[in-house]
Amino acid sequence: MPEIAKLILNGNTYELPVVEGTEQEKAIDIGPLRDLTGYITLDYGYKNTGATSSAITFLDGENGILHYRGYPIEQLAEKSSFLEVAYLLVYGELPTTEQFANFEKDIRNHTLVHEDFRKILDGFPASAHPMGVMASMVCSLTAFYPESISNRSPEMIELTILRLLAKMPTFVAWAYKHSIGHPVNYPQNKLDYCSNFLHMMFGLPTEEYAINPEIVRALNILLILHADHEQNCSASTVRMVGSSKASLYSSVSAGINALWGPLHGGANQEVIEMLEAIKADGGNTQKWIEKAKDKNDPFRLMGFGHRVYKNFDPRAKIIKKTCDTVLANLGINDPVLTIAKELEEAALNDEYFISRKLYPNVDFYSGIIYRALGIPTDMFTVMFALGRLPGWIAQWKEMNENKEPIGRPRQVYTGPTERPYTPMNER
Ligand code: ACO
Repeated sequence: MPEIAKLILNGNTYELPVVEGTEQEKAIDIGPLRDLTGYITLDYGYKNTGATSSAITFLDGENGILHYRGYPIEQLAEKSSFLEVAYLLVYGELPTTEQFANFEKDIRNHTLVHEDFRKILDGFPASAHPMGVMASMVCSLTAFYPESISNRSPEMIELTILRLLAKMPTFVAWAYKHSIGHPVNYPQNKLDYCSNFLHMMFGLPTEEYAINPEIVRALNILLILHADHEQNCSASTVRMVGSSKASLYSSVSAGINALWGPLHGGANQEVIEMLEAIKADGGNTQKWIEKAKDKNDPFRLMGFGHRVYKNFDPRAKIIKKTCDTVLANLGINDPVLTIAKELEEAALNDEYFISRKLYPNVDFYSGIIYRALGIPTDMFTVMFALGRLPGWIAQWKEMNENKEPIGRPRQVYTGPTERPYTPMNER
């Protein structure tokens, strides 16, 4: 017997179907609501609203579960590579050896970017935030591949997907090189995805970058953990922009902008800045815990809390472990790691954080690892974007294949009612 929700409104009873996902998540389908009743629903921040159904990522915030296409994040982080996870997210299944070899080869064929991108890059001041640079570079791909704007054939979309995955590390590394006034490095296609990225980031014409397998592994883990997170702010932005039939390049560019904000991807940069500020202030973590609790103080404990995880963020657990391993392997003793651990300990034992179910999120420790890898603070959110790219692509592709209608929320209007225009001299 299918479940039905009943809505009683002005004495009338309306029946609304209930839909159930494969993990027994239930939703009331309000599709017919406005036609039946003339009413809409109101849900600020979409806290209760499913905007779509999706077969990509499953997330259970109460129990700290995260699966990509059914595979637990813990297993993927331990056993897989970022590129394999990218394949999984985009195409729905883990690749066979042959499929993976072809995928890797196809990506290698597209790692170079048009030389004119160097001129575009030169137009930015060295002080430009790399997230703005990235969003612009990705959107500029529409100018170099104009056929991608109107050609929505599966072949063109496939080519666009490969180009995006292949060129993103080049853009990230070039944006960084530009910001520090170094010459850019070209991709080395004999290297795997993450090693190639590290080579472009840290190699110099005068000195080859020595690939450290520990660093490559840590980078793979970080990117895997960030690869998708179902209908978050940036993924929803990508789907929303794409639903107007905007190209994948422009949709991903919009996603990068959405990720930039400090309440989303920008938090990883803010965490390190916060930890540095606490260190400079004498390292009194309790003082900062009190600041975070003070409702008259806008300060929030960055890297803490999550819209969906209300128990723990499974990615934070993996990242904390990776952080300890990376720092030990590299022989780095970072004092902000001690401060981070003290803050976590204090917050997890504090009634304010316990009652609001605030736990460290994925970004609480990621910045410490990025720093140990030699990545500067304002590049942290760009690293997040590099990791999130396959998720955005998978979300856009699913939206496109499901032929979803254009995203167009409604509103409850609260402005002035109709009034006549008054000429300026009478106002
Ligand atoms: N520090 C102090 N108090 C907090 C924090 C925090 N980090 N996060 C939430 N709270 C408090 C709020 O003040 C609020 O308290 P109240 O009930 O007394 O008013 C309560 O907890 C609920 O907070 P909301 O903002 O309503 O929770 P929401 O689910 O909307 O927000 C968010 C989630 C945005 C992540 C929030 O926890 C936050 O701002 N965290 C810090 C920024 C951050 O780390 N963002 C990264 C998120 S993960 C990601 O995007 C990859």
